[in-house]
Amino acid sequence: MQNFTYTVDKDGIATFLFDVPGRTMNTFTESAVADLDAIVAVIREDRVTGAVLASGKDNGFCAGADLGELGETAGAGLTGDALAAALKGSSRMSWALRAIETVGKPVVAALEGIALGGGFEFALAAHHRVASSRAKVGLPEVTIGLLPGAGGTQRTTRLAGPRAALDLMISGAPIDAAKAQALGLIDAVVEPGAAIAAAKAWITGGGDGVAPWDRKGYQMPGGPYTAEGAPVFMTAAAQIHAKSYGNYPAQKNIARCVYEGFGLPMDAALRVEARLFLATQQTPQARAMIRSNFISKQALAKGAARPAGVPAYTVGKAAVLGAGMMGAGIAYVQARAGIETVLIDTSQEGADKGKAYSAGVIEKGIARGTTTAEAGDALLARIHATTDYAAIAGADLVVEAVFEDRALKAEVTRRAEAQIGTDAVFASNTSTLPISELAGAAERPANFIGIHFFSPVDRMELVEIIVGKETSPETLAKAMDYCRALKKVPIVVNDSRGFYTSRVFETYITEGLEMLLDGIAPAIIDNVGRMTGMPRGPLELADDVAIDLLDRIAGQRRVDFGLGDPNGGTDKVLVDLVGAERLGRKNGKGFYTYAKGEPKRLWDGLADLYPVTVERSTPELVETLKRRLLYRQAIEAARCMDEGVVTAPRDADVGAILGWGFAPWSGGPISLIDSVGVAEFVARTRAFAADHGDRFTPPALLERMAAAGDSFYPAPKAAAAA
Ligand code: NAI
Repeated sequence: MQNFTYTVDKDGIATFLFDVPGRTMNTFTESAVADLDAIVAVIREDRVTGAVLASGKDNGFCAGADLGELGETAGAGLTGDALAAALKGSSRMSWALRAIETVGKPVVAALEGIALGGGFEFALAAHHRVASSRAKVGLPEVTIGLLPGAGGTQRTTRLAGPRAALDLMISGAPIDAAKAQALGLIDAVVEPGAAIAAAKAWITGGGDGVAPWDRKGYQMPGGPYTAEGAPVFMTAAAQIHAKSYGNYPAQKNIARCVYEGFGLPMDAALRVEARLFLATQQTPQARAMIRSNFISKQALAKGAARPAGVPAYTVGKAAVLGAGMMGAGIAYVQARAGIETVLIDTSQEGADKGKAYSAGVIEKGIARGTTTAEAGDALLARIHATTDYAAIAGADLVVEAVFEDRALKAEVTRRAEAQIGTDAVFASNTSTLPISELAGAAERPANFIGIHFFSPVDRMELVEIIVGKETSPETLAKAMDYCRALKKVPIVVNDSRGFYTSRVFETYITEGLEMLLDGIAPAIIDNVGRMTGMPRGPLELADDVAIDLLDRIAGQRRVDFGLGDPNGGTDKVLVDLVGAERLGRKNGKGFYTYAKGEPKRLWDGLADLYPVTVERSTPELVETLKRRLLYRQAIEAARCMDEGVVTAPRDADVGAILGWGFAPWSGGPISLIDSVGVAEFVARTRAFAADHGDRFTPPALLERMAAAGDSFYPAPKAAAAA
């Protein structure tokens, strides 16, 4: 046993401590799965009366499966014998856990900290679960396109009933110990540090070593023929479809595990689950989601693109210029990370208002139980709200978040630079102005960089780091260390119009406007947008962003780059709407009309401006429109790669999903091109270009790749037969 240590006490209770060597967090690596057989062998020994499963690490029990291997073989599209062989390997853990469950002696899981995915499935295979009040459990597999494949779908359904089990698995969200206890997934909640003792007490108190479902006459709670179960079974598939439009095979297969497994004996039910797990793991969605939502995202969070050789940079003190919406949020995340923060605005009142934002976030956190009053006070004490630039002295980094105005930004850059050391970083949070140009106002342009946060800053994980022409590698490394301290996921991009995220995101909205100009009914446009897996349709999204802002950005683009025309095309749609005072959700009037307490209605004047000629949707039309919306973004992302704005597919994909909610099932726009196949994608978009114009012309990079038969990511590895 390499990943567990164990002791047997005077009562014959074996306590196994899960402790994967060389890792900060336990995961089920192949060798840890192999150890499960050894655990069973120990429990079978005569001297052993029962077993406790616990963690040897203080940060929790187990974070789940080791995704390296699963990711490499995902989406390989295995069939026939190869699929059957892969099933043996992928169901190994499930059978090992079943052996623990049927070992014939009481087994208890003692959970401190997190038990997620495979970690929670391990605990579910025990006969009893004791958790510390600080424990969190959950089955997040769905967020990477998978389903719990080691008994999780079957045991949660039997313990908590189908409704609660489906909610847990389809949301993927972790729940705390109290909630898990209320659902029947945890048997007892104890003080932190007391789980192992309570687990042993359960065994010595005569704990039962047989799972309820292994007894004769067992009835699943809330089964399909019960009053509470029937509606769940009847509506689950429809509910899943209504929410995700069939984009996530994992969700459908989770529901199938529940339907098909509920009435079966556990062994047969586990076989159903194992088959559906493998089928799910073989989908392109699983491959794309494991890669982008987990592997790439983690690599970026750890600073994958950080220039080597620069010593780690600790930001002890940082200043934020401008205490508006963005500055207030940035100050909060800095202070939360333990950074002494100077928050500056033009009036004391404005600076105080920015600090008050943090107080508000903390208050909500206290109400939700995610923070304490003491922690909140300590955080607030780190924010110094002032108008005095001299307070910046000694800051390791400055973030500028004043109005989007070149002259003003130049002025505050000079004022702040005069206060800070020659090693300190100066970052601009501009969303549209070229970084290299803003750096022109700086005394030390090598120390100047873009750090583009997203709103709301405390909740959005992504930051876009923009490297200007003169930005030094040291500055980039320092900026990345700062982002890591803030627990953000940075992508690194080179300076360009709209950088990466805004530039590609804009194409989603403009393609929606193109459809409006094509005479397609607005309801169809927005429906199709949601069907692609985007969080909102393009017109609703335009209303949310604010139409006057989009119009201003378009205007700036025309001035700076000579692209677009205010008297025609999609730019004119924005001009027209602003002219009619339809600014979007912010004034209650955009493409839709918003009235308190009523569902939004499409603006009835819209059809006068853009007459509808296509009112009925057909499956063919839907498919074409979906492709237009997704491919338009994918082409722009590929152009960004072609131009060197983004340098790795990883940054493009993670940036799209975290930045503007690009269809997560696809793994991002570059993954999408790979799933279609580069050559096929080029053929399809060339046909679109013939029908709809040059905006669909694939960039040279794609043409070259198609000709060479290349893909952005390596092809999946066929699973080694176990
Ligand atoms: P805002 O209008 O809410 O805040 C700007 C703040 O800067 C105001 O409080 C203003 O009083 C202050 N200010 C003006 N002159 C100043 C000076 N000389 N010294 C100190 N403070 C001064 O604007 P918001 O939305 O926070 O945007 C700020 C920057 O962040 C802009 O460059 C914007 O493009 C960028 N940005 C905005 C995002 C958004 O979603 N709103 C997202 C990402 C970036």
